[in-house]
Amino acid sequence: MAVPDVIRQRAADLRAQIEAHNRAYYEQDAPTVADAVYDALFRELQALEDAHPELATPDSPTRRVGGRPLAAFAQVSHRVPMLSIQTETDTKASGAWNFDARVRKELGLGEADGPVRYVAELKFDGLAVSLRYEHGILVQGATRGDGATGEDVTQNLRTVRDIPLKLKGHAPAVLEVRGEVYMRRDDLARYNDMAAARGEKILVNPRNAAAGSIRQLDPAIAASRPLRFFAYGVGEVEGWPGEPPATHSALLDALAGFGLPVCEHRAVVEGPQALADFHARMGALRPELPFDIDGVVYKVDSLELQAKLGFRSREPRWAVAHKYPAQEARTRVEAIVVQVGRTGAITPVARLQPVFVGGVTVTHATLHNEDEVRRKDVRVGDLVIVRRAGDVIPEVVAVVPEARPMRAEPHDPSALVPLHPPFVLPASCPECGSHVVREEGGAVARCSGGLVCPAQVKGSLLHFAGRRAMDVEGLGDKLVEQLVEQGLVRTPADLYRLEVENLANLERMGRKSAENLVAALEASKSPSLARFIFALGIRHVGESTARTLADWLGSLALLRRTPRPILAVLPDIGGVVAQSIADFFAEPHNETAIDALLAAGVAPRDEHPPRAELGEALAWARLYGVLGVPRLTEARARELAALFPDGAKLARETALAARLSSLPQPVSAALVDWLAQPGQRESLLQLAARREEILAMLPAPAGEPGLPLAGLTFVITGTLPSLKRDEAKALIEAVGGKVSSSVSKKTDYLVAGSEAGSKLENARKLGVPILDEAAFLGLLNHQGEN
Ligand code: IVH
Repeated sequence: MAVPDVIRQRAADLRAQIEAHNRAYYEQDAPTVADAVYDALFRELQALEDAHPELATPDSPTRRVGGRPLAAFAQVSHRVPMLSIQTETDTKASGAWNFDARVRKELGLGEADGPVRYVAELKFDGLAVSLRYEHGILVQGATRGDGATGEDVTQNLRTVRDIPLKLKGHAPAVLEVRGEVYMRRDDLARYNDMAAARGEKILVNPRNAAAGSIRQLDPAIAASRPLRFFAYGVGEVEGWPGEPPATHSALLDALAGFGLPVCEHRAVVEGPQALADFHARMGALRPELPFDIDGVVYKVDSLELQAKLGFRSREPRWAVAHKYPAQEARTRVEAIVVQVGRTGAITPVARLQPVFVGGVTVTHATLHNEDEVRRKDVRVGDLVIVRRAGDVIPEVVAVVPEARPMRAEPHDPSALVPLHPPFVLPASCPECGSHVVREEGGAVARCSGGLVCPAQVKGSLLHFAGRRAMDVEGLGDKLVEQLVEQGLVRTPADLYRLEVENLANLERMGRKSAENLVAALEASKSPSLARFIFALGIRHVGESTARTLADWLGSLALLRRTPRPILAVLPDIGGVVAQSIADFFAEPHNETAIDALLAAGVAPRDEHPPRAELGEALAWARLYGVLGVPRLTEARARELAALFPDGAKLARETALAARLSSLPQPVSAALVDWLAQPGQRESLLQLAARREEILAMLPAPAGEPGLPLAGLTFVITGTLPSLKRDEAKALIEAVGGKVSSSVSKKTDYLVAGSEAGSKLENARKLGVPILDEAAFLGLLNHQGEN
């Protein structure tokens, strides 16, 4: 049966919208929609494609979620071998001069000949892959393997969201793109935070993370990891449209034109000094780059000269990798100590014989957690490899096993045993003696001491006073230590009771600094709500989550009373984070500490009513989906909301099973079971009451109440393919939106047609989401369905 046109069109619209959001996220680093909106679009497309398999194009974004796990990877033979690259180990400027001298000699160039033109690029620290596009469609992805044969990792590479599944423009009949899959350090850190919260394994470093994720048989694993890609060359190419590029730089530009990510840090330069300058410039930039590099790469620009230079064994003579000083070094472990963080997390740390790594002297390196120490089997006295990447804490990468100190076994002097036993995490906190507990399935061990643990108290005070929190100038490490040890301060509120007299008696504290500190504390009393929330040190609540909470809820009083499901429907707040916030406020000593702060005169200066959009977020169709009922997916939650538009009625329903007969049996059974658990009906009733309370607090929306786009401001620009401007305006107003004539930060969407001018530019600059006509109509329809 033919697929109806409307459905075909909707699928195409959805694909275009999703790809546009992907581009905004990955290329411009400026997400245009909340994750939940993205997920909804994605699921709708998935559902359409499931219902009409003939709609599923090979370049659909749904292909990125991967298929079934494989038993083994198939082998791929590379028609054009994947070469490796010669390394210049001289990390000084002379490294560039050596390479240029070799190239000139091979080409027989004399002093009279001009300088050679090169492309200088970054050397990414990830995993080399080859992507085969046929007529612009990604058909195969492979690892390098031994250069001649690699593994078919197509399923995994499809999940990398910045690898285009379809090339833009007029692509060659065959194009093998060579490049590097990598992970950004911030993505890795965020991933690890979430993994640790879920009790899953953390990824050790970006390089292993990239390589390990691509070589997993189950594509769901790669899909769950924030991988990215940079193109830096090609393999087999056939049927280039028009004149093929004559230089490597033109080739890279062409790849970028096909929509492939090509790193912006590249330069076409002449002669060795310019190469050395690039090396130095990128070396200085290295700590600020969001991803790891271990050097730069120089390539002869002219493809004709490249062909002339040819290869030696598996390395081209026209390219070289010019490294940076090692970020890794070897040293001995003097001791393994454990540190207690502000949340009680216990981290084993190796105290090292001081060693110079990547420009600094390192004396301590993290061992992450107990499992990591066991896995690497790090012991006192061991020779270890220490790595320092960018601005992250140095870490112990591995032990050099043959250098372990050994002793003779007393009963059998011919046998040698290690001098030191394996590391064991202490059972009690070294700071306060409380029990150390390890959450079920979790990797992180914690001190259970809470406020009796001086390490946790100090850590949380330092966090509270920190520059990004309450920003109390002059309250540093040493001072907090003294204040806690002398019993002057235990909770943040105690800080505000300090007086010049008791401060001035402290070590290294004159009267003047004591006065300054008291003044700084006084000045910190009216922070923004976001900073105040961040300062509380709630687990998993970083600055950005704190801003979301402040922005949406508007007041501390409301935040303190907001139940977990309501937190979970806020943008970018997942179940783990919502639970952690609810747990924090359920703890009486936290409540007491906050009351004491308020009593001491600390008050957020920018409280406001909750955001109007909270009304939409609190639709039961959404709340049901975050209650934690097994099998109650988002789609099922919507069906449930159709049956029970009011959660309080659901909580009071006595003949539940009968009322749910239209839901699939396992879903209704799961819901009946869930609601039968003790306390569940009460908490649902309480949720309903809180929801009503919040709805009553909301400012009246600007548009007609109850309409889906109420209060949103649109700007229309350019010529739309089918709608006249007045028609578009009428559509927006019919659903409660407003149309404005100029783009500002307050604009929610720009609807842009052809020949859009400065408004489009403005919207891009301000990060205002841009919709074409199809996406605009999609938004209207979509909103109408909810
Ligand atoms: S070109 C013919 N360019 O370095 C030269 N390689 O041994 C082929 N790499 O694992 C490679 N950044 O994945 C080239 N800008 C870059 C690179 C780069 C990283 C990796 C590559 C391979 C190794 C080469």
